[in-house]
Amino acid sequence: MTRTLITNIGELTTNDPAVDGTATGTMRDAAVLIDHGRIEWVGAADAVPTTPEGYLEVDARGRALIPGFVDSHSHIVFGGDRAAEFEARMAGQKYAAGGIRSTVAATRAASDDDLRTRLRGFLDEMLAQGTTTIEIKSGYGLDVETEARLVRLAAEVTDEVTFLGAHVVPAEYADRGDEYVDLVIGDMLDACAPHSKWIDVFCETGAFTVPQSRRVLEAGIARGLQPRAHASQLGTGEGVQLAVELGAASIDHGTYLAEADVAALAASETVLTLLPGVEFSTRQPYPDARALIDAGVTVALACDTNPGSSFTSSMPFCIAVAVRDMGMTTAEAVWAATAGGAQALRRDDIGVIAVGKRADLVLLDAPTRVHLAYRPGVPLIAHVWKDGERIR
Ligand code: NIG
Ligand code: FE
Repeated sequence: MTRTLITNIGELTTNDPAVDGTATGTMRDAAVLIDHGRIEWVGAADAVPTTPEGYLEVDARGRALIPGFVDSHSHIVFGGDRAAEFEARMAGQKYAAGGIRSTVAATRAASDDDLRTRLRGFLDEMLAQGTTTIEIKSGYGLDVETEARLVRLAAEVTDEVTFLGAHVVPAEYADRGDEYVDLVIGDMLDACAPHSKWIDVFCETGAFTVPQSRRVLEAGIARGLQPRAHASQLGTGEGVQLAVELGAASIDHGTYLAEADVAALAASETVLTLLPGVEFSTRQPYPDARALIDAGVTVALACDTNPGSSFTSSMPFCIAVAVRDMGMTTAEAVWAATAGGAQALRRDDIGVIAVGKRADLVLLDAPTRVHLAYRPGVPLIAHVWKDGERIR
């Protein structure tokens, strides 16, 4: 286990309100000590309580250090892609939930090795962009065998595995949605629950109704999984209120929220995870994050990496869009992409740079975090530490 001193940090975003009374807990001219994969000390660069002997010393040269990004929503175990669908959409076609079925066909046809190689490629891509924790959903198998393969493959690379057998009704169950739900909460749940932490459902026109979504989430909860949901992506509906009622850790999308949804979210412990990559690549209106935050909703940001609605894996890109088009300050967007994601996964060991937390850190090639939004599309990730080890 490497012990590391990162010193000469120009701007340190800790997300520890004890530092300065703000959510981002920001310090200037700071240093961090790392030991056994955890944060050992955080403070002023001229007050490091040890000789750097025995520590690997890293000079940040005045640059900004932030917690590693916590990307709490992805679908990165799949076969094929849907570039043609994207092109058609850019030419005016509308996004619909049914496109998922073409990825299902390609995923069923892919071998475990093909899926694994692809998955690991996405993880490398994400690490290079500063993501140190990733949630991964199943949902492109939609039969017992393939869904079980997908959660198993996801569990090889993350603890944050979500069973999303209720992503869409597969072609072979057309017009028999209730029967498909029987399968999801029966044999499919039996096969997938041992590898999963979360139960999810796509509660939307063209996917699952509110009563069907309730059955899926309640069955998952009864099996010890924790609920989260896709809702209000394509239109308003009752999915948000259902998921809040069931104590979901997060509701994701929220592109079309009614006033009652906002009130329910604000009064709950449920995080709203906004996915700017989806609005970007489906040409939908961006949610008004400013109004949501002002109403008291806790907002996280995630990429939703998937071949249909959002094929970016870049948290810096999502931050840039959230600041440019959704009314978030850079401080709010960086918080939402780190501590917010941790809260959406009900984790208190990540997303914060404080004594005892996991040493998952990103050094930016920039003097402040504002540059993440100010320099969109520019690779600004200098180094990445995961569990205290420098991996980039
Ligand atoms: O989060 N909304 C449902 N699922 C994905 C899209 C999946 C797809 O189009 O393949 C999402 O946007
Ligand atoms: Fe999704």
